[in-house]
Amino acid sequence: MKAIRIHNYGGPEALSLEDIAVPEPKAGEARVKIAAIGLNYIDIYQRTGLYPLPTPVTLGMEGAGIVDAIGGGVTEVKAGDRVAYAMILGSYAEYAIVPAAKLAPLPANVDFKSGAAIMLQGMTAHYLTHDTYPLKRGDTALIHAAAGGVGLLLIQIAKMLGARVIGTVGTEAKAQLAKQAGADDVILYTQTDFLAEVKKLTEGKGAHIVYDSVGATTFEKSLDCLRPRGYIVLFGQSSGPVAPFDPGKLAAKGSLFLTRPSLAHYMLDRDELLQRANDLFNWTASGKLKLRIDSTFSLQDAADAHRQLEGRKTTGKIVLVQ
Ligand SMILES: NC(=O)c1ccc[n+]([C@@H]2O[C@H](COP(=O)([O-])OP(=O)(O)OC[C@H]3O[C@@H](n4cnc5c(N)ncnc54)[C@H](OP(=O)(O)O)[C@@H]3O)[C@@H](O)[C@H]2O)c1
Repeated sequence: MKAIRIHNYGGPEALSLEDIAVPEPKAGEARVKIAAIGLNYIDIYQRTGLYPLPTPVTLGMEGAGIVDAIGGGVTEVKAGDRVAYAMILGSYAEYAIVPAAKLAPLPANVDFKSGAAIMLQGMTAHYLTHDTYPLKRGDTALIHAAAGGVGLLLIQIAKMLGARVIGTVGTEAKAQLAKQAGADDVILYTQTDFLAEVKKLTEGKGAHIVYDSVGATTFEKSLDCLRPRGYIVLFGQSSGPVAPFDPGKLAAKGSLFLTRPSLAHYMLDRDELLQRANDLFNWTASGKLKLRIDSTFSLQDAADAHRQLEGRKTTGKIVLVQ
């Protein structure tokens, strides 16, 4: 089968299209014939070695397709089922092996591209707003990179929960998209000091919560955007990792709460996974949650897709197809 692998960490050129054997499912596993693959920022961290993996390795943490074989003892799915999944390595390929318990049944009214587009970023936006900090009416949330894959979903779900949303984005075109998704205010943080703007927009009080996935270039100022006892949710580092941090700063800046969550710990069992996935599928099918697929690349052009994502050129989701 065709797969996109890396042998050494590096730039997009490290991704190579190769012919490898079709894998066989072991006990508890299913083999999925992949129809659509979701691209995520974690793929870049893994490609560059920021999140190290043993190599050679097939990249890709999200996919949708049809179960084509199952290993012993599998009860959750059967051959022929339409499924989608996230946070299991190896989706940049024609077939992937996935623990059966990590597969969500994909409803007939959600197509494969949408299934591959919603799982990882959607479940992230879901847990960040429902569990890391349950957003409520009256809360003000600052969302960085608001027109990104996670960002556009985070805005919509935060608005469903009644929060006021302030978004930051890199360009005017991205600002329009963030507004269309429901952001109450949008700041061009490439041109304006987002801290001064947030203070102005909140009459000096600051936000209740900052969702910061940009990291190096935003983190310090994000802390100053919070009101006392506010929450700084650092959930990514698109601009690079945050420098070592003195926890004493949390006290000095208003008894703040800091968490660095990962989706892996918010889909701990099958019930939790299915609950989040089903909310997302229902919202998508009913039009309550709008998915924005920025572009679709063929699997062999994965390197070009990586260049677009890390070059800040995309809005919403990138999907790869066979
Ligand atoms: N912890 C978790 O559970 C979890 C799960 C999923 C994703 N994440 C994180 O969420 C973030 C968003 O992921 P995504 O896949 O949806 O990507 P994305 O937001 O679509 O793309 C990254 C965006 O970050 C912004 N950015 C700011 N500075 C950047 C820089 N120096 N280089 C590149 N981008 C920069 C850009 O938007 P602007 O041009 O508007 O600044 C860019 O479009 C990532 O940090 C990812 O690691 C975390």
